[in-house]
Amino acid sequence: MDNVFPSPHPLVAHKLTKLRDADTDPKKFRELIREISALLAYEATRDLQVRPIRVKTPLAEAQGAELVEKIGLVPILRAGLGMVEGVWELMPSAEVWHIGLYRDERTLQPVEYYNKLPVEPTVSVCLILDPMLATGGSAVATVDVLKRWGVRRIKFVGLIAAPEGIENLNRHHPDVPIYIAAVDDHLNEKGYIIPGLGDAGDRQFGTA
Ligand code: PRP
Ligand code: URA
Repeated sequence: MDNVFPSPHPLVAHKLTKLRDADTDPKKFRELIREISALLAYEATRDLQVRPIRVKTPLAEAQGAELVEKIGLVPILRAGLGMVEGVWELMPSAEVWHIGLYRDERTLQPVEYYNKLPVEPTVSVCLILDPMLATGGSAVATVDVLKRWGVRRIKFVGLIAAPEGIENLNRHHPDVPIYIAAVDDHLNEKGYIIPGLGDAGDRQFGTA
């Protein structure tokens, strides 16, 4: 699919393998999420606009570039929280806007419980951060919220996607590119990604 970008980077593959490992403890798990997220953000921000500026080095003037777009990082609570730090390090002037959603265990439908977006949009491009794109319901609902807010450029950055989630997000929002560390095989009957990594929220926060 044209707008799905699985990372080709060997560091991502190496770290994702450790992340999947059931023996990886929450401390290491959080560290790996932070590192992989930064590597994925690097790929997801390739097309950000810059304007030319001049800069004085200690020796001479040089031609440089400055980011012009206002970036919003949008972690989906809870599991997206762990992705913020690694991405924010790369773009410290980004705004962070949290969206609280959980998946109803029975219906697998997203239920919104936190949204403090102001009336007018304050950013021009949003990176949605969520490690898992399973049925895609949470991602679709978050894009709906951001489009209603008035943001037109939206990208999804995640760690593992199921084909079902990619198909769902693409069908509802074909304009949203998906940057991901890996595309897995399928969803099980409980909506978990197989082979996946289990429950990304529980493994980060030690709540399994
Ligand atoms: C997980 C994950 C996504 C969602 C993905 O969150 O972080 O937000 O499930 O599933 P979907 O693609 O089928 O919507 P969860 O609902 O477990 O909440 P949590 O992060 O608070 O644990
Ligand atoms: N949420 C998770 O945390 N893991 C999955 O496999 C699916 C949804």
